[in-house]
Amino acid sequence: MARILSGIQPSGTLHLGNYFAMMKRMIEFQNEHELFCFIVNYHAMTTVQNGDLLRKNTLEAAMDFLALGLDPDRCFFWVQSDVPEVMELTWILGCHTSVGLLERSHSYKDKIARGITPSCGLFTYPVLMAADILLYQADLVPVGRDQKQHVEITRDIALRFNGTYGETFAVPEPLISDEIALIPGLDGQKMSKSYGNTINIFETEKELKKKVMRIVTDSTPVEEPKNPDTCSLFALYRLFAPADRIEEMRGCYLAGGTGYGEVKKELFGLIWEYFAPFREKREHLAGDPAAVAKKLAEGAEKTRAVAAPTLDDVKRKVGLRYR
Ligand code: TRP
Repeated sequence: MARILSGIQPSGTLHLGNYFAMMKRMIEFQNEHELFCFIVNYHAMTTVQNGDLLRKNTLEAAMDFLALGLDPDRCFFWVQSDVPEVMELTWILGCHTSVGLLERSHSYKDKIARGITPSCGLFTYPVLMAADILLYQADLVPVGRDQKQHVEITRDIALRFNGTYGETFAVPEPLISDEIALIPGLDGQKMSKSYGNTINIFETEKELKKKVMRIVTDSTPVEEPKNPDTCSLFALYRLFAPADRIEEMRGCYLAGGTGYGEVKKELFGLIWEYFAPFREKREHLAGDPAAVAKKLAEGAEKTRAVAAPTLDDVKRKVGLRYR
């Protein structure tokens, strides 16, 4: 049984891209593996600098996970800042990480290229992520391709530390999901909050319909054949329709005679139905934020117990335990 760990940033409302690339997989892992799943609010702080918003996003992300079936009794589920040990480890690891290694981070370079003025936090983001992973001795880290290099940086940091002080950290492997490439947003680019092209997991019925109708398609007339393999509407349809219906729809595309409007109507119904049972649970949780907070407090306590021996070992080795 592998120890699997991954985190999600509460940097906005969680959407279908988050669901299929991360949340759904994580929820499935809890059955077969030792799962560590958390909400990385310290990381989100690199972009969200509004206390009320960060608080709201964090609680809502927790509610989303619980509503979608994550079971805190079968996994470790917590909010990053509730385990302050991670910050102590971040500093220690940071002192063992060269600036050159962080300067090679694609994610950092991309953000700067997009015109973001970098904070120290953005620059050392991979060190915090390394601390997240190493503190819990994780074996496998499911991430999208964009995060693979961060796991490689984590491996570098772990190997170096182990080399200097003796075996301390498990050296984790990234577990790459290709599905993330398959989830287009409304405009056909990868679904992402920063592109403003998302369909959220829990939209209102009206909003969901509006968004599905806005999915960009080409201008092939109804009667003509269409290419399902280049159509982002079809890519989304595949995520929700049953296998035999996907094949039928592929046939309809190739044959012509089916309009995109029809496909959109069906897709709207499928998405709405897919999340219906979760929506009910989500509403229930939203009505009882105190119960959610309690679950998170218990989760943090359970997680701190796992973090403590590793941090203690590290502090002993580096000389911070001096008495
Ligand atoms: N950086 C990751 C992302 O943006 C989130 C993250 C933070 C994470 N800490 C982690 C993912 C540890 C996996 C493991 O998607």
